[in-house]
Amino acid sequence: METIVLHELEFQKIIPEAIILESIQKLGNTIRKEYYNLNPIVLVVLNGAFIFGAELIKHLDFPMELDFVRYRSYKGLESGGEIIKSMALPSNLSQRHILLVEDIVDTGLTLSALKKDIELQKPASLKIATLIFKPLALKYSEKPDFSAIETSNPFIVGFGLDYKHLGRNLRSIYQLKD
Ligand code: IMP
Repeated sequence: METIVLHELEFQKIIPEAIILESIQKLGNTIRKEYYNLNPIVLVVLNGAFIFGAELIKHLDFPMELDFVRYRSYKGLESGGEIIKSMALPSNLSQRHILLVEDIVDTGLTLSALKKDIELQKPASLKIATLIFKPLALKYSEKPDFSAIETSNPFIVGFGLDYKHLGRNLRSIYQLKD
């Protein structure tokens, strides 16, 4: 079993790159059918969703715009319970079809804060695509509309996800070893 060490913690590989890419391709096909004639704005949440967003838009072969936002709530292994908005939302979301791209929906705190702020601009529609959904951890009512992978693993890294800034560059997904 392949393991890696980030800072003081050991992680083991649980989802290889090929499976992740396959799941994103499937998700891309679903999203493609829904958005091909809507010229959506794909809004990627930094930092964690940048690799997922890059992979996902390779499957969207129609006119679309790309933009970024940076909200975060995690410190180390725990959700901070407080949202830090370190990059504001774009201001042109009114009357547009918005696809918000998240790395992971865990408690749902970040997602619910983002949804609330985006809805203030009155978009034509707003849906959420996430690489990882942890349904058992959800504490808020907002759920993603599309998810590539569902898991119950407590803490994972890789494919854009980090532990204290390390691990984003791992090509596969790893979980914390107990
Ligand atoms: P939420 O607000 O609790 O849903 O958490 C969302 C954010 O916390 C994500 O966008 C990630 O940046 C981070 N996060 C949540 N769970 C994990 C995890 O298992 N590994 C790494 N980051 C995570």
